[in-house]
Amino acid sequence: MIFTVAIDGPAAAGKGTISRAVAAQFGFAHLDTGLLYRAVGIKGGDPVQAARSLCDADLARGDLRTLGAGQAASVVAALPDVRAALTDFQRQFARRTGGAVLDGRDIGTVICPEAEMKIFVTASAEIRAHRRWLELGGDAAPQSIADVLAQVVERDARDTNRADAPLRPAAGALMLDTSDMDIDTAVDRATAAVMAQM
Ligand code: C5P
Repeated sequence: MIFTVAIDGPAAAGKGTISRAVAAQFGFAHLDTGLLYRAVGIKGGDPVQAARSLCDADLARGDLRTLGAGQAASVVAALPDVRAALTDFQRQFARRTGGAVLDGRDIGTVICPEAEMKIFVTASAEIRAHRRWLELGGDAAPQSIADVLAQVVERDARDTNRADAPLRPAAGALMLDTSDMDIDTAVDRATAAVMAQM
């Protein structure tokens, strides 16, 4: 069976958790496409070459999830040649037999406009910054909540305002605002929506 679930949205809206849960529920493969851009962002050197030569070892690095890697990712993600170099890999992953969930910024709009199910997950910037700060350790986090919020807002602006593949909901996407929703409810909504589409 070929079935693609495209899950897009800004940082820390809940995309990752929802994507992993949907993939587990239906036995689909999951690709966190942000990791591709993070790996390119922290690799150094020419980002286009880095994107063209990305390998498993780059994606296995332990420092991909840091705030700095996220910022570096959003800088290289604005380069059309970087995006083009990563497109085929994502499209092939999406059409693999057995179903696939891809999460990112442009999955429903650019990578898989034909996806059987598209979901746009969002939440207010303050709530997303609070969640990210808790993930970083809360009071023990190296950054203050204000610093995390500033980075979230900066990254949102860069991702939304870039010319190539800007962050926006795909036509026909289910809109899931998780600001006032616990994660279990968000997962249940997404799972039910996928089920209804199968
Ligand atoms: O989702 P994550 O926070 O890991 O993404 C890091 C950055 O990579 C995003 O801020 C965005 O600039 C870029 N990205 C993208 N397109 C995707 C996934 C991520 O431009 N499909």
